[in-house]
Amino acid sequence: MQLAVPTLSGPNVTIRRVRLDGRDQFFALKGDPEIHKMFGRSRDTYLAMTREAAGAMVKRLSDHPFAWVIEHGSRVIGETRLDRVDMQDRRASFAIGILDPTCLGKGIGTEAMRLVLHFAFDRLKLHRLSVRVLAYNHRAIRSYEKCGFVLEGREREAALVNGEWHDDCIMGLLDRDFRRLLPEALSMSATGQNAKHST
Ligand SMILES: CC(C)(COP(=O)(O)OP(=O)(O)OC[C@H]1O[C@@H](n2cnc3c(N)ncnc32)[C@H](O)[C@@H]1OP(=O)(O)O)[C@@H](O)C(=O)NCCC(=O)NCCS
Repeated sequence: MQLAVPTLSGPNVTIRRVRLDGRDQFFALKGDPEIHKMFGRSRDTYLAMTREAAGAMVKRLSDHPFAWVIEHGSRVIGETRLDRVDMQDRRASFAIGILDPTCLGKGIGTEAMRLVLHFAFDRLKLHRLSVRVLAYNHRAIRSYEKCGFVLEGREREAALVNGEWHDDCIMGLLDRDFRRLLPEALSMSATGQNAKHST
């Protein structure tokens, strides 16, 4: 099954399909070592954004069936995806990354997350989503909790970052919990119905 990835908007954020000419928007993000650490990358493997890397990001996102860029104030500031969508068991993995450090901790990522969750549960009719997050990534864990994710398990010492072992937290969210905890998802549903499908 292949559903078109829609453009969805909240008050401060739009998520949309990547554009093939979008390389320079990713290049403008430059990269940030602290954000990369939240993905489990060490200082010595950190590479600042290059035009080649930005082009590779555009290709990866355009080849992906359920990937969006996150726009805030008409600038691309990150990406979000539903990975490993399994329509048999109606589940997927969720991923998000705000790549502009000036946009962290302002509710922008959580708003983008809710748009994707709305799409996952109301349009794709998924039953559950899971995320893997490093235990030291307190901001992401709090953001997931705000959307209804709960801690389901912990993989001990699953990541070696800057020479130290860190645990991975496995969090999950069921469709019924999303609906119960986030009744405002219904208003996003109205936005989504009006949203244009990207071309
Ligand atoms: C994770 C992410 C999507 C969250 O989006 P966001 O818009 O920055 O998050 P919000 O501002 O809505 O919420 C952050 C919450 O964490 C809290 N927080 C921030 N820093 C914190 C810290 N160091 N310790 C504990 N809580 C923290 C904030 O107080 C807020 O909670 P509150 O609303 O209850 O006060 C975004 O920060 C991001 O993309 N980060 C970089 C990449 C990343 O970590 N991706 C996830 C990998 S699994």
